[in-house]
Amino acid sequence: MAEKNYPTPHINAEPKDFARTVLMPGDPLRAKFIAEHYLANAVLVNNVRGIQGYTGTYKGERVSVMASGMGMPSIGIYSYELFNFFGVENIIRVGTAGAISPDVHVRDIVIAMGACTNSNYASQYKLPGTFAPTASYGLMKTAIDNAEKHGAVYHVGNCLSSDTFYCDDETATMQWARMGVLCIEMEAAALYMNAARCGKHALGLFTVSDHILTGEATTAEERQTTFTTMMEIALDTAIEN
Ligand code: HPA
Repeated sequence: MAEKNYPTPHINAEPKDFARTVLMPGDPLRAKFIAEHYLANAVLVNNVRGIQGYTGTYKGERVSVMASGMGMPSIGIYSYELFNFFGVENIIRVGTAGAISPDVHVRDIVIAMGACTNSNYASQYKLPGTFAPTASYGLMKTAIDNAEKHGAVYHVGNCLSSDTFYCDDETATMQWARMGVLCIEMEAAALYMNAARCGKHALGLFTVSDHILTGEATTAEERQTTFTTMMEIALDTAIEN
């Protein structure tokens, strides 16, 4: 682990405060909800900029949950610090995504095997080609096994991690859809690249909150049910890795 003084610029904690696996929703209030509803003896370990982080136990195993904020720069910062300075081995993003495949429906779960991106995040690595950000196989396999156990409706494939939620180019979505990309979110590619560069492990799990092409939508109550299934899949995956 890199030498570092604590606190780091964005996390007011020490390595012992985090479990080896951190679940990362985008929204700090989701992190609080997960800690309060799923973790026993949850302790608040970070609250810099309201990015709430908690550590507690799930089925007797230590697990942490901390928000990532929205977008690749934000998850890039938090995952970098957790991997490099806090001894975290696994980060599982638990988020929402907008579907762009006709086969994927609102409330389904997407397990992001790969993350395409329109961001320039990879340019920092000065690679002589294009990097393909992928999930860590071990985490992904465990998540698929757990999705089966929960009887979840799930898809495994590519997502698009986009720098824009509101995109001026109306044709862009269709072009990604033509390449078989299942859904759009805004964080997984940076998380996967940080994990690769640090020799650590990452996975993105999303519940589909809306369908960008068909306009199919869901009620808050239905979203909550799928969210619960996704969380249980993520937590079972966390304690098995
Ligand atoms: N775009 C990007 N991220 C998202 C979306 C979307 O349409 N829906 C949920 N997360």
